[in-house]
Amino acid sequence: MEIIQHADFLTKKVRSYRDMGRAIGFVPTMGALHRGHISLMDICKAQNDVSVVSIFVNPTQFNDPADLNNYPRNLNQDLDLLRKAACDLVFCPDEKEIYPVPDTRQFDFGGLDKVMEGLHRPGHFNGVAQVVTRLLDIVNPHRIYLGLKDFQQVAIIRKVVDDYHYPVEIVTCTTVRENDGLAFSSRNVLLSPGQRLSATIISRTLFQAREMIKTHTADAIREFVINRINSNPHLKVDYFDIVDDKTLQPVNDLSQEGRKIGCIAVRVGMIRLIDNVYFSL
Ligand code: PAF
Repeated sequence: MEIIQHADFLTKKVRSYRDMGRAIGFVPTMGALHRGHISLMDICKAQNDVSVVSIFVNPTQFNDPADLNNYPRNLNQDLDLLRKAACDLVFCPDEKEIYPVPDTRQFDFGGLDKVMEGLHRPGHFNGVAQVVTRLLDIVNPHRIYLGLKDFQQVAIIRKVVDDYHYPVEIVTCTTVRENDGLAFSSRNVLLSPGQRLSATIISRTLFQAREMIKTHTADAIREFVINRINSNPHLKVDYFDIVDDKTLQPVNDLSQEGRKIGCIAVRVGMIRLIDNVYFSL
């Protein structure tokens, strides 16, 4: 496994592999790797000749400086995990490599950012688009691997890739969960044992809500989810919405056509977790 810090060097390296006809798969991460990331890496490895993982905690996507400051960082452990997963190239740039000059680009997401995470984290998706386009320019992969836990992020990246005609295939991978159902997240390590236990209520409630789709209205399901989760003293729902999986607009009539997904963000003390499940009739 080769560890690369300089963007130019990585670009040249990947270009030489492409010239040899090798397929390049890319997994962007902010480090603090867990089984969710490794499953992306495994799929990437199975579908490509060369797998590239980036580790970069992107400051422009944090709307809360405390969140950026507290974001878990564990480079040595990450590199061990990637070595075990037989990753080929790891890109660990510093901020100057990604943003040699401040990135002032403003993206238009056609409204996809006006709901859920976008409402609660102003500027977050603009920062995600800045870093992802920059990484795509540097790496130039054939395929990029994204986890569906960040459902809105996937929709936004898809739009940017389409709008800017990036010649890359987006491969989405299902959320990986702990045995008790909690979705893997880099932020889980920040939970106290009590918070960690309470956090299992999030996915359990989403799975129960999914069962209610044939018998309850969207409003009733929303009320159930919010009340159930908020009744735990460690948990506070930021939002729960059942949305159309293409437009991300809230669905009030559950018999309406199209696939629906229940998306949630919950504050567990100072830590904010997100999760989602597909709701189908
Ligand atoms: O999902 C993440 O970890 C980040 O948002 C990403 C896509 C690596 C961009 O910084």
